[in-house]
Amino acid sequence: MKKIIIAIDGYSSTGKSTIAKRLARALGYIYVDTGAMYRAVTLFALENGMFTTEGIDKEGLLKSLGSINIRFEKKKGGEDAETLLNGKNVEDKIRSMEVSNRVSNIAAIPEVRHKLVEEQRKMGEDKGIVMDGRDIGTVVFPDAELKLFMTASPEIRATRRYKELLGKGKEVTYEEVLKNVSERDYIDSHRADSPLVKAEDAIELDNTDMGKDEQFERIYNHTIRFIEQL
Ligand code: DC
Repeated sequence: MKKIIIAIDGYSSTGKSTIAKRLARALGYIYVDTGAMYRAVTLFALENGMFTTEGIDKEGLLKSLGSINIRFEKKKGGEDAETLLNGKNVEDKIRSMEVSNRVSNIAAIPEVRHKLVEEQRKMGEDKGIVMDGRDIGTVVFPDAELKLFMTASPEIRATRRYKELLGKGKEVTYEEVLKNVSERDYIDSHRADSPLVKAEDAIELDNTDMGKDEQFERIYNHTIRFIEQL
């Protein structure tokens, strides 16, 4: 079967990565979580004291951009690829609220986006890839054969993320998570460079009232039909 690029964009905590991972596994495709890349840069800035009372030390961050190396690697026996920042596994650290609360500000810096978009394009050179993020169908791969745009109400997204964080033993309140989800929606869709918008040719999927399996089956069946008619 012909290999294509599948771009999955949408608001935070809409279940993009769950669907993207499942789809990639079912098709034998590579899965790339671009949010993890913005999170890794944010962690780098945090660990190097670049968040100051006056804001981000942008100059310091831009000087260090060339020395930030982000890779994905599967753990031995593991199914999912994990994020490595300069060779260190940071998969758990990049999901903390500390990173979540700051990542939208880092993702709004054009030079950061430029570096990561370039790396993402290289990853998709051979196609056979499912990539999720905010600007995949609009900026990274505007010619992607299949584009999905996922939405759901902020409350349902906050509930899902809250349960996920509790399951991982993180200490958070529902209100904190809802505030984070709403703030990220605002910053992500209002930034000057590559704001979160639905690509004109993307299929929109509102999953507020849809279970994970139903959603996956719909997307999977659509994808298979789509690839077969190419
Ligand atoms: O998907 P996520 O919640 O892990 O993404 C973290 C942040 O990174 C999100 O608030 C917006 C930003 N992001 C982006 O600007 N562009 C992408 N392609 C992916 C994520």
